[in-house]
Amino acid sequence: MSGAKPVILDVDTGVDDALAILLAVRHPALDVRAITCTGGNAPLAQVVTNTLRVLDAAGAGPTPVAAGAHRPLLEAPQHAAAIHGSDGLADLGLPDSGRTPEPVHAVELLRRALADSEEPLTIISLAPLTNIALLLRTHPEVIDRIERVVMMGGAVGTGNATAAAEFNVWHDPEAAAIVLGAGLDVLMYGLEPFYCVGVSHDDVRRLLAAEGAAPRLAGALLTHLIGIDATEERVADDRVAIGDAGAVCAAIDPAPLVTRVAPVEVALAPGATRGQTIVDLRTMVGADISAARDALPATVVLDVDSEPYRRLFLDALLGP
Ligand code: BDR
Ligand code: CA
Repeated sequence: MSGAKPVILDVDTGVDDALAILLAVRHPALDVRAITCTGGNAPLAQVVTNTLRVLDAAGAGPTPVAAGAHRPLLEAPQHAAAIHGSDGLADLGLPDSGRTPEPVHAVELLRRALADSEEPLTIISLAPLTNIALLLRTHPEVIDRIERVVMMGGAVGTGNATAAAEFNVWHDPEAAAIVLGAGLDVLMYGLEPFYCVGVSHDDVRRLLAAEGAAPRLAGALLTHLIGIDATEERVADDRVAIGDAGAVCAAIDPAPLVTRVAPVEVALAPGATRGQTIVDLRTMVGADISAARDALPATVVLDVDSEPYRRLFLDALLGP
């Protein structure tokens, strides 16, 4: 699509990954060149199945999809059925897709998409970073073909998988450390914006009542998330977070973001802090207190004006 930003999505679909795919496919500012899958919210095979089904609902053209890592570099895989349903997609019973995944590993699809592109690509990472880390280690020659990594992962403050760690980084901390340490332009879209960008319950009703598979699927997925929020007594108002789809908004238009460029280190030691992203926001570092600011900087999202992203998401699914 001319003028659209070429992107690759790396996903673990996943209810909110599905929202992100619907938005990315339907928004004219993005050109989705490929989608790579990793085990995370659900086992890898289920993630691939879900991704193909969501592409159908989105009305996507031919879009290469490949299966990648089925487990983290070191850890055992751990899935999130309590949040995403037993099939990772809210148990909505979506129809099987006629699409088939590419007969190559996700790392090869990533390499190929980057090498074949006439311009550098943005990688929107919405999952544990295993595939991206494997790409960087296997094909370092493509690093300069990566414009930016928009990474849904980490947190400045409290985690969700544990008190300290956000799920995507916690699931594969070594992979996150490799990506954050590669010298890439990384936009860290962590839990602070993740839970802030949302739509109202009325918006969800409008999606459910709309014509077309894409808004209806978005409405059904968000209805599932409203149920989760109620269970967790997490939401005081009538909004529901769009999660990973907010990171797609950030790739489309970073203007509503409040960011700081700061060193980010991933805690790798075993124990309560494993998988924590330590964002060094200090403005003064006393030389005799700590000279250790070795971690490379990322552009970290501290806050977001959520209303423009609510509109962006709804316009893409309902029409302006
Ligand atoms: C992240 O973990 C997954 O459950 C979501 O899809 C999102 O990518 C949030 O911590
Ligand atoms: Ca995800």
